[in-house]
Formats: sequence, C-alpha cells, structure tokens
Amino acid sequence: MKQLVLSEWLLTQLSQNKFPKRMPTHRRIYEAIRQAISDGVLASGTRLPSTRSLSDELSVSRNTILAAFEQLLDEGYVAAQTGSGTYVAYNQPDGFSKKPISTATIEPKPQDDAGLSRRGKAAAGSLNRQSHEVQPFTPGEDDYSQFPTMLWRRLLNRQWRAPDPSLLDYGHAGGYLPLRMAIAEYLRVSRAVNLTVDQVLITAGTQQSIDLCARLLTDHGDRAWIENPGYWAARRVLEVNGLQLHPVSVDNEGMAPSTKDFRATPKLIYTTPSHQYPKGMVMSYGRRRLLLDYAESRKAWIIEDDYDSEFRFEGRPISSLQGMDQNARVLYMGTFSKVMYPGIRLGYLVVPPNLVTSFKSGLYELQRPGQVVIQAALADFIEEGHFANHIRRLRQTYAERRKLLQKSLATVAEVGARLSPVDSGLHLVVEFDQEVDDVRVATMAAEHGLRVNPLSNYGIGEKREKGLIVGYAYAATENISKYGNVLANVIKAGLKNRTP
Ligand SMILES: Cc1ncc(COP(=O)(O)O)c(C=O)c1O
Repeated sequence: MKQLVLSEWLLTQLSQNKFPKRMPTHRRIYEAIRQAISDGVLASGTRLPSTRSLSDELSVSRNTILAAFEQLLDEGYVAAQTGSGTYVAYNQPDGFSKKPISTATIEPKPQDDAGLSRRGKAAAGSLNRQSHEVQPFTPGEDDYSQFPTMLWRRLLNRQWRAPDPSLLDYGHAGGYLPLRMAIAEYLRVSRAVNLTVDQVLITAGTQQSIDLCARLLTDHGDRAWIENPGYWAARRVLEVNGLQLHPVSVDNEGMAPSTKDFRATPKLIYTTPSHQYPKGMVMSYGRRRLLLDYAESRKAWIIEDDYDSEFRFEGRPISSLQGMDQNARVLYMGTFSKVMYPGIRLGYLVVPPNLVTSFKSGLYELQRPGQVVIQAALADFIEEGHFANHIRRLRQTYAERRKLLQKSLATVAEVGARLSPVDSGLHLVVEFDQEVDDVRVATMAAEHGLRVNPLSNYGIGEKREKGLIVGYAYAATENISKYGNVLANVIKAGLKNRTP
C-alpha cells in the first residue's frame, strides 16, 4: 500500500463500523492499522504517513493519532527511526499469524503418552476421561449462585484501590499473616485444632497440600495407606509421587486397618476422619486412638483431610484428629473450594511445630505461591463475619435439599437399596448389594439426564462396594423432588429383579 492511500483505506475501515461504536477513536485507528499489518496489507518496512498528515486527512486530533501509534510502538507492530519516521516492524509480535488459534479438543490417541515419565503417565492417566458436564445431581458441584459476588467484588476492590506493594509479591513465609491468623482462630474454635498461627500455611488447595506433604515427607517407593473406597484425587497425587499405595477398608467407624494392614508399615496415612470420603461416616474415638498410637509407634505421618466439615447439619461439630494428637504426627488440611468456590484455589495446611520451617521453605521453593491480594480479601471476608454468615446460609440450603432428596429416594428400599444414614456433606450414598452392577445403574441415570457416580469407581481391587454417589448441592431446591423421583425410578428399574 502506498503511503498516500493509508488514510483513505483507514477512512473506509472506520466508516464500515467494523469496530464497536463505544471504542475510542485512537483505539479504532490502532486496531485498523494492526489488522492491516497482521493481514499483510501493510508489509514489513512500509513507512507510515506522519502523524500530522494522518490527523489532517482523517480529521482527528494529532493526539489521537499519536496515541494509536504509541500503542503500536509499545506492542512492537511498528518501529520508529529518529528523523525518518515510523515503519512497519520486521519482527511482528504475533508472527503475522492470520489463522485463529484452534480451540478444538485433541482426542487422546493410544501413543499419546509416548515419552512421558512414569510419574507423567500416572499423572495423565485420568485426563480426558471425565466429562465436565454438570447435571442436577453431579457429585462435587456446589451452588455457586449462593456466593455473595457483589460483596466479594467490594472486598477485592478495597485491596486493589491502593495495594500495599507486598501484596503484589510472591506469598512469603506461609502466606498472608492476617489470613493465617483468621484461619487459626476458626480452626481452634470450630474444629478443636491445637495450633499456633505459625503452624498454618496457605496453599492452593488440598491437592497441593497433599502433594507438598508427599514431596517433603516421603521418598519414592515408600508406602502410603489410603482409604478404600476413598478420594481418587488424593490417590492420584500420592501415586505420582512414587508412593506404593496400600488400600485399607473402611467400616462404620471409619478407616479400619486389619492385622495384615498393620504389618504393611506406611510412611504416610491419608484419611478423612470427620466425614469419610465418599461414604460419610465419622471415625470413632477408638479408631482415632488406634491410628494415632500406631502412627507414633511407626513414626508414620497422618494426613487429615477435613474437606467439608462446615456442612454438618445436625449434632455437635466433630473435633479434628489433629486435636487429639499428642505426638505431632498429624498434618491437618482444609480447603476453601467448598465454602467459597473451587477456582479460588486456596486452602490451608497445619503442620506440626517441628516441620514449620521446612514446610515454609518447601512451599516457597516448589510452588512460588502468590495471589496475596485474594488472600487479603479473604482475610477481611472471615474477620468481618461474612464467612460465618455464608456458611450458615449454605448449610440451611443444603440441609433442605438433602432432606428432600432423602424423601424422594426413600422408596428404593423396595428393591434392597439403602440410603446412607450420615447427615452431613454435599452428597448422599445409595448403597447396593455387592452383586449389583452400579456402573450400569449410573449409565441408566445418565440416560435420564442425571449424572451420578458409581460407588465402585472410588474403590480399589476386586471386591469394591457398590452404590451411587448423588450430589445435592447443585440442583435448585424446587427441582430436587422432581429429579429425585426420576432417580428413584431408575434405581428401582435397575435393581428390579431383586428382593430386599
Ligand atoms: C475428599 C476431598 N478432599 C479435598 C477436596 C478439595 O480439594 P481442593 O482443595 O484441591 O479443591 C475434595 C473436593 O471434592 C474432596 O472430595
């Protein structure tokens, strides 16, 4: 394009309303020139007209043209040569890419893991296998419409208005101190955790907390006890860290190690004592003592994952296992995924006093934590009482949904299915007898637009428990009974030739 016609070409572009009307003029001129460069209409080395002549020809102020040129210069689309004007740069920031970037998902192929390490293969094992479509009873989905978005935005804005420079840095020394103080107080009062503020570390959620424990406390080939059935994501991260997994059955008192299990000495024990995942029972006092004493005798570490104890609908709150520990063997962890939202990626890890220094530097060296501004807003959210209010509201909503679901599923007893008696958490377990094919029943439910998970998917080995995991946090209260009745009919149809 010759110099002289650039202004004519720009006038045509601007008059064709290619850009939103609300866009400022300098921005539209910038976009038009950038587009011309990207499309090759303006070749590398082309000299642009002077700002003065362009401003005359386009009838806009010279400052408007200067602002457009400045942005093109800043982003590297054009280069200025003193005394001889502005040229289209030879090395373009976007490499003259004309094709939009594809957003299509790449289908996994059998050879896709070629070249991955053993750790990489273990980590990538579940990729693409899970559908992320959310349906009314999808387990693990919360009701984000309950989240006080306006309030949260106000608290974030308050931090951004005049941010203390330290908030923009990496998160040092275990995280933002006022947040660690607020968490310590909450855990001391609500969960009977025995701690000082120094023992609290802010992490990017439970998954990262478990990863940190595995990396800092175990070596490749060490043994880890896990609950069976149990939390598959914890299993994955332990496996990726090279741990040899040893499944331990659960009964109605929680993790239930047998004599044979006791002989398989672990370095790490992962457990969910307040609300066994996914079955929901609370670990009994006797079992807690047994586990703590055993861990001390073998110098094993216990990871206590207290992921949803905010959602206990009746009875007193359950005390933490950590609070009973006299020997500093328990690492306690919690998350803001359930009470705030999963994408916040914030959780906490309470480590025994003798591990504080190593964990703080381990966290810093391995993760380079950050998001301190969000940590500061969260500290205000807790300190100003919004956290407690939000939990109270969620608890009421979820308790009501749970009751409605229990009511509409009650008829499944006719075909020998049992509703778990547990009264907490965000999902309900419908238990089947061992010989029932729970994957088939879950598939039947999916055909009715209800995604529920087969309990056998959470187990390891031949004799997996059978049933369905049904989440009730996501569906609107007014729809629970309707969908609950559909699910009850699916279960009855799936188990119909059986007698209770
Ligand atoms: C047993 C258990 N622990 C922890 C979490 C939360 O993990 P994160 O904090 O990594 O989101 C979940 C989420 O579903 C869970 O089921």
